[in-house]
Amino acid sequence: MPDPMKVALAWDHAGLQLGRVLCAHLAAKGYITENLGAADASSVDYPDYAARVARQVQSGAATLGVLVCGTGIGMSLAANRFVGVRAALCAGATAARFARAHNDANVLCIGERISGVEVALSMLDAFVNTAFEGGRHQRRLDKLAAL
Ligand code: RB5
Repeated sequence: MPDPMKVALAWDHAGLQLGRVLCAHLAAKGYITENLGAADASSVDYPDYAARVARQVQSGAATLGVLVCGTGIGMSLAANRFVGVRAALCAGATAARFARAHNDANVLCIGERISGVEVALSMLDAFVNTAFEGGRHQRRLDKLAAL
């Protein structure tokens, strides 16, 4: 049986409630989780937390990452500054599935002020359960990396 996948998660104050739910959800499903999120609701800066997860994914310490802030936008902007990180801001399970299948996204970004818990959980499940399809999509990722 293969080792369970490691997923690094972080959130700022605006993603605290949802981030904790997503982290517990993955742990309950047997994933190894790295909780790098804000410890409480004190105001913090999302780039600091995006960097924590991006570094884990970039180094290979974690296979996938999850970032939650108010809208998910700041987290995605920050995470995509790291070479090798492909962060996808999603608002539904279909986008989360295609982010893995076509874009080989390795970080899922979600906005707690945008997506409700049930939708967020369905996105998370779709994200971690979908494999990259490769083929023509790899060619496009190679072009993306060369930009
Ligand atoms: C914090 O108020 C909020 O700006 C942040 O969580 C995020 O939504 C930024 O993109």
